Amino acid sequence: MCGIVGIISKEEVNIKDSLLGLLKRLEYRGYDSAGIGFINNNKIQLIKKKGSIDDLACSIKNNYFSHIGLAHTRWATHGKPSSNNAHPFISQNKKWAIVHNGIVENYLELKKELKNTRYLSQTDSEVIAHLLEKQKASSDIEKVINVCNKLKGSFALLGMLVDKPNTLFIAKRKSPIYIMEGNLEVIVASDTICFEGKGSKYYTLNDDEFCVASLDKLTFYDKAGHQISKHAQVLDNLSYSLSKNEYKHYMLKEIMEESDVVSNIIKEYSKNRFTEFNKKFLEKVDNIVIIGCGTAYHAGLIGARFFEKHVNIDSTCEIASEFRYSDKKIKPSNLYIFISQSGETADTLACLELVKRFGGLCVGITNVMHSTLAKNVDICLNVCAGIEVAVASTKAYIAQLVVLYMLSRHFEGQLRNLQIDYMKDVEKLRLSLQKTTFTDIDEIASLISKKQSVTFIGRDIDYSSSLEASLKLKEVSYISSFACPSGELKHGYLAQVDSNVCVIVLATNQKLLDKTLNNASEVEARGGKVVICSPFKTQDKFIKIEIQDIDSDLICCLVASKLQYLAYKTSIIKNINPDKPRNLAKSVTVE
Ligand code: AGP
Ligand code: GLU
Repeated sequence: MCGIVGIISKEEVNIKDSLLGLLKRLEYRGYDSAGIGFINNNKIQLIKKKGSIDDLACSIKNNYFSHIGLAHTRWATHGKPSSNNAHPFISQNKKWAIVHNGIVENYLELKKELKNTRYLSQTDSEVIAHLLEKQKASSDIEKVINVCNKLKGSFALLGMLVDKPNTLFIAKRKSPIYIMEGNLEVIVASDTICFEGKGSKYYTLNDDEFCVASLDKLTFYDKAGHQISKHAQVLDNLSYSLSKNEYKHYMLKEIMEESDVVSNIIKEYSKNRFTEFNKKFLEKVDNIVIIGCGTAYHAGLIGARFFEKHVNIDSTCEIASEFRYSDKKIKPSNLYIFISQSGETADTLACLELVKRFGGLCVGITNVMHSTLAKNVDICLNVCAGIEVAVASTKAYIAQLVVLYMLSRHFEGQLRNLQIDYMKDVEKLRLSLQKTTFTDIDEIASLISKKQSVTFIGRDIDYSSSLEASLKLKEVSYISSFACPSGELKHGYLAQVDSNVCVIVLATNQKLLDKTLNNASEVEARGGKVVICSPFKTQDKFIKIEIQDIDSDLICCLVASKLQYLAYKTSIIKNINPDKPRNLAKSVTVE
């Protein structure tokens, strides 16, 4: 959450354009307010505004020329979105300016320690600027290190000092930050997405490492203030195209890209597939524990069912924010799978750290192969979805399901000494996604946009798919939505049903079809509107979402795709921008 960038440029540049151009690439990380800071005529100048980066850009009428600047797009944790609470923050003597991504957990304590300080915001971050001013140390980097050593919580921190107009100070703990050194400029950013077209190599800071960046030199330090050396990493040559092509929204574009994503997966995994997981290794695995948040957690729930069904190894999926504080035993004989589109989700990373401390092989499933997750797991599997910009995850979810499916079938083949041609199922899915049409959804979107509440029901995998469909709908349409296992309706939920309610029934399992349809009739009998999402023939009285029968577990991807589109379409009817739903951000790097 929150995106930060900094620039030092050899030539004086139109600093507003340079900063905002880069910041725009980080907008997925937060968009409730934004700000820039730069040094102009030996003074630090800040311009901040509530609202989006575009709102900020429109409000800046003048051009400012400078060699150095920093910028921030915010997702508030402490203090409501407002221009005062937007970053950067400046110290009282106006010498230091900082931008911060993360949470200073002990900010109240630190504020108490600082006497005679006037705060201009309600944030946890501002105290950092004042602490820097008050530090007594022999060098500026020592001041930064001393201040950061006092902070509890997480930070990616960028600071500049008016007396050093060619230097950025950078610090990191648990929030990502990257540094790119070009010939004419240094760019520091929360995501390497900002470096595309600017250079080919970059540096990553590990937790509690620091950097003093100037045009001619990057100097790295550990938390004791000792200089350390670092190796540059090569920027992957993926093109981070941020174009929406012919689509009005990223969410729609990303749903439409789903069959291409499956093609990418087929290409990536057609050779040397999962060679690390051989029979000898798998025979020693006691349980499979999958960990993730939000949509990744939902993919994991379905993944756990794939493993149980095909491999007969007890498998569970845990919500990362719960698992990290639970008393669950972490066993070296378990296989731990961490799923995260971004690879930067704080709770998921905390679980990874925990599991690594206690043993247990850690596998990552991610869309960002240079992410913290990818770097810290033992084995990392790429979901190959390409950059996903819309806050609501769509194509990455489909890709996670496909990778989990392939992995489960690979395990099955190894353990049963079988050659399983599961790639043919993946190919069938690809073709089916390519053929999927969404015209049947428009009318249903119009129906549910008028309802007070929408509930998704299903059994087994369909229940997990219901959880995801419900999350997607509430994220982008703000309609109150639940997911309920079909069999649980009568244990309480039915009390909610009346004509204001719509129930969408997921029924992709032939064996459970009759049971699920009975539940649909129970809803209908109480005045609720019923929509059935199924590949099978059902009574004509129900509205139908047609799903193609592809005769494999991957049918859950077809259901997901249709219901993602339903959420998208509903948001459009309700005049909501699905790419940036209120109160959310794409990358959740705070706890
Ligand atoms: C998805 O639509 C959500 N925006 C959200 O639940 C997301 O899946 C979750 O924050 C996890 O993100 P990750 O996959 O990047 O870890
Ligand atoms: N805690 C800071 C604020 O609320 C930064 C938030 C973040 O990085 O998400 O402004």
